[in-house]
Amino acid sequence: MSTPHYETLPPSDAVTLGERAQRLISSLATLTDEPGRITRHYLSPAHRRATDLVGDWMRAAGLAVSLDALGTVRGRQEARRAGPSSGKRLLIGSHIDTVTDGGAYDGNFGVVAGILAVDELRRRRVSLPFGIEVLAFGDEEGVRFPTTLASSSAVAGAFNPAFLDRRDAAGVSLREALVAFGCDPDAIPDAACDPDEILGYLEVHIEQGPVLEHEKLPLGVVTSIAGQSRFKGIVLGEAGHAGTAPMNLRRDALAAAAEIMGEIERIARAGRDDSLVATVGQLAVTPGAVNVIPARVDFSLDIRAASDAPRLAAIAEIRARAREIGERRHVAFLLEGYHESPTTPCAPQLQAAFAAGIDALGQRVLRLTSGAGHDGHAIHHLTGVGMLFVRCRRGISHNPLEFAEPADMGLAVEALIGAILALARDEDGERS
Ligand code: GLV
Ligand code: MN
Ligand code: MN
Repeated sequence: MSTPHYETLPPSDAVTLGERAQRLISSLATLTDEPGRITRHYLSPAHRRATDLVGDWMRAAGLAVSLDALGTVRGRQEARRAGPSSGKRLLIGSHIDTVTDGGAYDGNFGVVAGILAVDELRRRRVSLPFGIEVLAFGDEEGVRFPTTLASSSAVAGAFNPAFLDRRDAAGVSLREALVAFGCDPDAIPDAACDPDEILGYLEVHIEQGPVLEHEKLPLGVVTSIAGQSRFKGIVLGEAGHAGTAPMNLRRDALAAAAEIMGEIERIARAGRDDSLVATVGQLAVTPGAVNVIPARVDFSLDIRAASDAPRLAAIAEIRARAREIGERRHVAFLLEGYHESPTTPCAPQLQAAFAAGIDALGQRVLRLTSGAGHDGHAIHHLTGVGMLFVRCRRGISHNPLEFAEPADMGLAVEALIGAILALARDEDGERS
């Protein structure tokens, strides 16, 4: 984005906004820690380059840019006119970290949409009665450290200091990684927003599911973000000789873990709740040799549902079944929770603002829940959360095939602008 001259730049239409969004997303997609695929983990060299690029775009859109203690890029502009909310600001954000071998749109589009909306509001010479702060978070995916949402938690004033000692697979602690990134862990309290200064939080995100495509709609308003629990599971058996230990005398950690995983899937599919999902996405077997009975298995468990009760009931059942399996097989079993987000409702006023933005485009307003986790879980500790979903091809996400049509992204930026204007009308007391 070259430095704009807003006196002369014409306003853009949705098609142009979508094309611009695609160009910025494609630039971000070149920043990867693994050539040939998009992998941008929290506080990695590629994340560092992405913070610089996003900072440049924010500056070009007229925002005052800083990097906070958790590596969140923050671009701020003050209210353009005096009024009761001129000391407040609306947060607009998403994340620029990715999963391993991920897609280009997850999170990244939300950051780009926020920047383009601010840029466009200037082109249209809109004077808002409140400030805006665009946030590019770094730890939404929770792939590198067992932390998840560390950066948005800090903005919300809900950062858990114990996170600083958590280590990645290479043994680097979050504290060490922050310092290497150029951040100051001692300044984490300064990253927190004062709730009295915040109007709300808006996030635009690809749906990561098939509902909008099925409904032939480009956009939808999110009503709630599914609750989510994450665990580290450990099964401890005993190593032994694969040729000499009889089957009935083994304490095989992997065979026990396999049975536990079968139970996890059975419990999630048992019909307790259609939205209940449970995933074991990581598995490490020790010592991991062809002729050694496995002594230890470490695995991850991610479990979610649209409401809290079925998720919590499923966790209790998984624990009970795993205990039985462990006792029968004479192996120890541990399930240590490290992330817990209750179901996060979206604020009615912010849902209405996004609905107004969609309605202004002549589109039907569909409301849907989010099965994916979002920074809104953490930001909910600070302020109300509103989310807009954008159709993505075949609902595919966390996959290099992830794709959103530029035309849909253009409509999403327009709907975000519409939502900001609706909130401005609310602040001006114009909405009935
Ligand atoms: C983040 O994308 C998550 O839902 O795990
Ligand atoms: Mn995301
Ligand atoms: Mn994701």
